[in-house]
Amino acid sequence: MTTTSSLISTLPGRSYTDHEVFEEEQAEIFEKLWFCAVRAEDLPTPGAFRTVQVGRESVIVVRGRDDRLRAFLNICRHRGARLCAEPAGEVKRTIRCAYHAWSYDLDGRLAAAPNLVKMPDVDRVAYGLVPVHLREWLGYAWVCLAAEPPSFEETVTHAATERLGDPAAIERYHVDELALGRRIVYDVKANWKLVVENFMECYHCATIHPELTAVLPEFAGGFAAQYYVGHGAEFAQRVEGFTVDGSAGFGRLPDVSQDQDRRYYAITVKPQVFVNLVPDHVIVHRMFPMAADRTVIECDWLYHPDVVASGADLSASVELFHRVNEQDFDACERTQPGMSSRAYRDGGVLVPSEHHISIFHQWVNQRLRG
Ligand code: FES
Ligand code: FE
Repeated sequence: MTTTSSLISTLPGRSYTDHEVFEEEQAEIFEKLWFCAVRAEDLPTPGAFRTVQVGRESVIVVRGRDDRLRAFLNICRHRGARLCAEPAGEVKRTIRCAYHAWSYDLDGRLAAAPNLVKMPDVDRVAYGLVPVHLREWLGYAWVCLAAEPPSFEETVTHAATERLGDPAAIERYHVDELALGRRIVYDVKANWKLVVENFMECYHCATIHPELTAVLPEFAGGFAAQYYVGHGAEFAQRVEGFTVDGSAGFGRLPDVSQDQDRRYYAITVKPQVFVNLVPDHVIVHRMFPMAADRTVIECDWLYHPDVVASGADLSASVELFHRVNEQDFDACERTQPGMSSRAYRDGGVLVPSEHHISIFHQWVNQRLRG
C-alpha cells in the first residue's frame, strides 16, 4: 500500500484478472472459510438437495430422513463421477450414481453397489460420501471444506454483528424464520472482489443509485453503509417504506425495535455474503465466484411468512434493491475490462471515504500469503 496525499492505492489490475490469483483465492479463501451455500427452506423435505460451487469443488447439500441438513462432496467414491448433475432436485431414498449405480444413503453411507450384493467386507462409511462441515445460521446452510474449520462464532456471527451499534440487533429480525418472497440470480461478468469493494463503499451512491438515495438521503454523502452508519441509515422523512417509490411496505417485523424502525443496516460477512436489514424485510446476497471475471450472485428477499402466504404484491419492495443490484453490477462489469488495461497495471486509488476498502485488500493479501 502506498500513500500519496489522501489517496491510497488499490490492488493491481492482475489481481482481478489472473487465473492463478483466482485459483489461489479459491484454495485459500473460499475452500478454507465458512461459505453460505443454501437457504434451508429450499430443501423442505427429506431427499431435497441442491448442488453449489464452493471454491473449486461441487458440494451437495441434502436434507436427511432425520430432517437434518448435511453436505458432501458431489463425487462418487467408485470412479469419481459427479453424482448430482442438476443444481437442485429431490431423490427418493438414496443418491444414486448414474455411472455404475453405486447408491448412497442421505447420511452419506454407501448403501448398495451392483455385484457387491451384501458388501460384507466393504466399509460403508469409509466408502461413503466425503462429508463437508455444515452449520445453520440465519436460515442458511453454511459449509466449510477445511479439515478443521475456523470458529463459526468468530468468523461469521461475530464478524457479522461487530459493526452494528447493538450486536444483538440482527437477532430481532429472526432471519431464519422469514420466508423467501423472491429470488433473483445475477450472472455478473466481474471479479468477486469488485463486487465486495462496490458493496463496501457509497462514494458511487449519488451517481448511480437515485432510487436508493431518495429513500436514504445520507447515502448521497458518499459514506459507506456498514462502516459509517452502523447505527442504521435513516429513511427520508416523506418516505413510508423501503420501496422503489417510497410507498408503504409491510408491517414491521414483530421483534424489530423502535430504534431499528425506519432504518437500513448493511452487513458484510467476508468472503461472500451481504445482509441488508430493513424494518419489514431482509435482503441476503450470496456470491458464488465462478472465474476470475465471473461471479454469480443469488439475492433473496425474505419477508414474514404471513406476508408471503397472503400473496401480497412484493414488487415495489423487491424493485428497489433489484435496481440497486443492477446499477451496482453494471458498474462492476464496466470496471472489469479496465483491470487488464495497462492503465491499471499498478491499480487505482481510494479516496478518504473509501479508505476502509484497503482493510479488505490487506485481508485478501494476508489470506493469500498464508
Ligand atoms: Fe459412480 Fe462408478 S463412478 S458408480
Ligand atoms: Fe451500490
